[in-house]
Amino acid sequence: MAGLIAIFGMPSLSVLAQGWQVPRPSPGLMPNPAVGKKLFETHCAACHGTALQGSDKGPPLLHRIYEPSHHGDIAFQLVVKNGVRAHHWQFGDMAPVPQVTPDDVAHITAYVRAEQRKPGIRQNANEFSGLRTST
Ligand code: HEC
Repeated sequence: MAGLIAIFGMPSLSVLAQGWQVPRPSPGLMPNPAVGKKLFETHCAACHGTALQGSDKGPPLLHRIYEPSHHGDIAFQLVVKNGVRAHHWQFGDMAPVPQVTPDDVAHITAYVRAEQRKPGIRQNANEFSGLRTST
């Protein structure tokens, strides 16, 4: 698993991840942002903030580095299952959250994407199809 954690910081994560065992939600699951909001508040908000704005323990998930083109939905499944070594911030590592199932993660991701769309992160992702090189 150390190898998997090590590649987390690379932009080509989603390509590399295809060869790995990626947790998958149940077939036919309809991700529900309202369900995801509750799960997020229970399991994630202590570090990522009740409004995804971050805290002194974790980064804001509304930041543009978490826009879909950079951190795809697979990144959410992987980080909840395996945790992630600190690579973008100074908060330290994120530990796995084993009590959160792949279905739960799908709901949480739907919630995060809905929130990301509000301040225009999604639009930026579409406008800059690929990694941003300037601010
Ligand atoms: C104990 C604090 C803590 C909790 C609880 C926590 N996180 Fe994190 N999370 C972090 C930290 C710290 C990072 C940033 C690591 C870095 O890039 O430096 C992070 C990073 C992430 C990332 C980016 C991963 C990547 O590939 O860069 C995602 C997505 C994420 N968290 C989602 C979640 C979700 C969903 C939950 C709830 C199920 C959650 N986190 C719970 C602390 C936490």
